[in-house]
Amino acid sequence: MKAVVVIPKKVGVEVKDVDIKEPLGKGQVRVKTLYTGICGTDRGIVNAKITFAYPQNGFNFLILGHEGLGIVEEVGEGVKTLKKGDYVVPVVRRGCGVCLNCKIGRQDFCETGKFVEAGIRGKNGFMREEFVDDELWLVKVPDSLKDYAVLTEPLSNVVKAIDELLFVQRRMVWTCEDSTFECRNAVIIGSGPIGTFFSLLLTTLGFNVYIVNRRDPNPTEAYIAQRIGATFINSSREKDKIPEADLIVDTSGYPSAFIPLLPKMKHNSALVLFGTVGGEKDEITSDLITSIVEKNILIVGSVNASKKDFEGALNYLSIWKDRYRDVLDKIITSRVPVEKAPEVLLRKPSGEIKTVIQWQ
Ligand code: BGC
Ligand code: ZN
Repeated sequence: MKAVVVIPKKVGVEVKDVDIKEPLGKGQVRVKTLYTGICGTDRGIVNAKITFAYPQNGFNFLILGHEGLGIVEEVGEGVKTLKKGDYVVPVVRRGCGVCLNCKIGRQDFCETGKFVEAGIRGKNGFMREEFVDDELWLVKVPDSLKDYAVLTEPLSNVVKAIDELLFVQRRMVWTCEDSTFECRNAVIIGSGPIGTFFSLLLTTLGFNVYIVNRRDPNPTEAYIAQRIGATFINSSREKDKIPEADLIVDTSGYPSAFIPLLPKMKHNSALVLFGTVGGEKDEITSDLITSIVEKNILIVGSVNASKKDFEGALNYLSIWKDRYRDVLDKIITSRVPVEKAPEVLLRKPSGEIKTVIQWQ
C-alpha cells in the first residue's frame, strides 16, 4: 500500500509502496484512511529538526502521520463498539503500561516516558492507505462530523491544555462576578491551527480573545478573528494594543514572542506554553521572576491528549459546526492528493492554516 515515509533524523520524505501485512487480531479493527492532517511536528520530522522521532521496532523507516480520520473496513472478533462504515479517529500516544496514568488512559501524563506515538516515535503513523488498530484506541466519530473530524487530534491537544488550565486555576476564584469568564483577557500568541483552536475554544468559554502575531493577518486570519469576535494584533506595529492579560498562551515556541509580554500578566494569571522550536533564546530577568512570584503567576507546559480529550474535541466540533461552520471550512485551507504530500510537508504552502492529505 501507499504510505508517506521518512527516515527519522534525515531530511526528506517520500510516498512509497510499503509491504506491511497486518493480520486482524482479536479486538482489532481495520481502518481505511480518509484524511490525514499535517502539522509542525510532521514538518519538524521531515526537516530533521525533531530529534525524538524514531521508527517502530523492526522497521528502518517511519510512516508519518498522527492526525487521522478513517472509516472502519473490517472488525475483528470481540469488537463491541464499532462496525464497518463507522468513522473513527485514532489516538496518537500509547502508554507505557506501567505507570498509573497510562493504566487509566491518561498516557498524556505518562510518568516513565516509555510511551510511543503514532507517526512520531516508535510507532508507524496513519499516512497510509489503511491500518489496523485496537478498538480501544479508536474514537468513534458521529457521521455528521465526517467533514471536520480530521481536526479532532490537533484540537484534542487544546482541549487537554484548557482542561488542565481550568483545573489548576481553581486554586482561587478566577471567574467573574457573574461566574462567567467574560471579564478575563486571553492573549494567544500565534495564528496557526493550534492558535486558532485556542482562540475558538476560549471565545466559546466567554474569554475576551486577542490573537497576537508579528505580522498583519492574512485574509483568512482576519476573517476568523472578526467572525469569532477576537482582536488580531500585529505585535511589531501595535504592541501597546495588547491588554493586561489573565491568560497568555504561547503557540509559537519563541521565547522572544512571550517573554516581553510577561510584564502584562495580571495577578493570579496563567501562562500556557504549547509551542516548541529548537535553538531560540531570550533573556529572563530577576525583576521578571520577582513579578511572577509576587503575582502568583502560573506557568504550565502542555503536550498530547488522551481519549477523553478526543471526545471533548468532537463535542466542540459539533458545537462549532452549527455556530462557526464557515470558520471550520476556512481552517482547512487545502486538501491535497497523496502524491503532493512530500511537497506540502517540505514547505508550508503560503496562507496555510491546516493542509490535509486526501487518501480516497
Ligand atoms: C501531537 C501530540 C504529540 C506531540 C509530540 C503533536 O504534534 O499532536 O500528540 O504528543 O506532537 O511533541
Ligand atoms: Zn500534529
